[in-house]
Amino acid sequence: MPYKIERMRIEDIAEVVAVDRRCFTTPWPASAYRREVMHPEKNLYVVLRRVGEGPLTQPDPKGGGFLTNILPFFKDDAPPSSNPVVGYAGLWIVADEAHVTTLGVLPELRGLGLGELLLIALIEHAMGQGAHWMTLEARVSNTVAQALYRKYTFKDAGYRRRYYSDDGEDALVMWSDRIDSPEFADRFEQLKQRLYASLEGSLATETA
Ligand SMILES: CC(C)(COP(=O)(O)OP(=O)(O)OC[C@H]1O[C@@H](n2cnc3c(N)ncnc32)[C@H](O)[C@@H]1OP(=O)(O)O)[C@@H](O)C(=O)NCCC(=O)NCCS
Repeated sequence: MPYKIERMRIEDIAEVVAVDRRCFTTPWPASAYRREVMHPEKNLYVVLRRVGEGPLTQPDPKGGGFLTNILPFFKDDAPPSSNPVVGYAGLWIVADEAHVTTLGVLPELRGLGLGELLLIALIEHAMGQGAHWMTLEARVSNTVAQALYRKYTFKDAGYRRRYYSDDGEDALVMWSDRIDSPEFADRFEQLKQRLYASLEGSLATETA
């Protein structure tokens, strides 16, 4: 089943909030998303949409990378798309650091590579903006998310004690390796190609 990623729009927020509620015990209110979406110069918020049958768009190796190719409507003047939102992610850029603020995929679509696809979109944007490192917080109990981030070089860097307001759980702070290094670029490219191949493989199985 093919998917696409687009920049989040004000008109997507109700759907994003509904998906967020299924992903987190402390989801963001719609007002928080509105605030973010109104400042696209400081951040990137994206939605992952399920677009029906057909092959996943492969990125053009000569093109501008993942966002411009997998995100065919990644332009501010693109018409809003109405395919269902099944995941979302956000990133702040502050100086040379990119901070992953949120990332979620509907429970019934997890384990298919879609969280990774969203993370790739964030990393690619951060690289394009000239960020040097990426950072984020994850619940200490959220070993699934931590495994995803470790795959992309994020490492444990400390804790924020009682960070989560609902149950007082600690946050693990993670930092990536330098994302502007040739080593990161090589690893990122390999992981991206492997994910595309596996998504294409699952599409072929689904449509067989
Ligand atoms: C974290 C989340 C986004 C992962 O999305 P997903 O689509 O299920 O993940 P993917 O299928 O893309 O998996 C990518 C990687 O994540 C890790 N991962 C995914 N599911 C896992 C599981 N059940 N156990 C351990 N690691 C897992 C693996 O490293 C995997 O790479 P691999 O396939 O090479 O092993 C998803 O679980 C989610 O929405 N969780 C709730 C919200 C959340 O916790 N967000 C992160 C906040 S910090």
